[in-house]
Amino acid sequence: MTQMLTLAPTDALPGHALEVLLTEEQIQKRVGELGARITQDYANAREPLLLVGVLKGAALFLADLARCISRPLELDFVAIASYGVATQTSGEVRVLKDLEAPVAGKHVLIVEDILDTGLTLRFSYLMETLRARHARSVKVCVLLDKPARRRVPVTADYRGFEIEDRFVVGYGMDYAEHYRHLRYIAALTRNDAGLERV
Ligand code: PRP
Repeated sequence: MTQMLTLAPTDALPGHALEVLLTEEQIQKRVGELGARITQDYANAREPLLLVGVLKGAALFLADLARCISRPLELDFVAIASYGVATQTSGEVRVLKDLEAPVAGKHVLIVEDILDTGLTLRFSYLMETLRARHARSVKVCVLLDKPARRRVPVTADYRGFEIEDRFVVGYGMDYAEHYRHLRYIAALTRNDAGLERV
């Protein structure tokens, strides 16, 4: 579900254009709904709930989502990088930061900003190793799902918005580390080389 709402030229770097796809209000409303559903789904779980954010993109989403979940929970982070340059991924991933919290016996909810090719989530560390470390359960919550880009079969248990195949920034997501701080999510086009898609 995407829609063009407005342009936000003041936030754009020179040579860039931003087209707002999801406003702050739309994001916050949906995050609230996800938090309410998660609260409900884990209401009868006696084991701890551990939210695991995948850095860096998920940081803002995790911060907002956690505050919309009304039950005891713990937070932890992992950082995973895919080999390859710019917007092309080679399919290989490596761990930059491991989990700090023990996961045995806990319900683990992996929190991602975007599900794209699926390679990050399919990586055995996240899914299989969490299970090998005896997590009570492992689920995935993504804010954005870009099914057109999927290379390996991964589905999210909780999903904020389905979007088309455009390069998105804001609300944690970056272009060369820029734009993560935006309160909204925008599609980025560059016009320094004749308005090419990034
Ligand atoms: C992005 C995003 C997800 C991953 C999804 O991270 O935050 O973690 O890509 O893509 P995939 O489904 O194709 O694996 P990125 O590697 O850009 O790092 P960042 O979060 O630090 O920006």
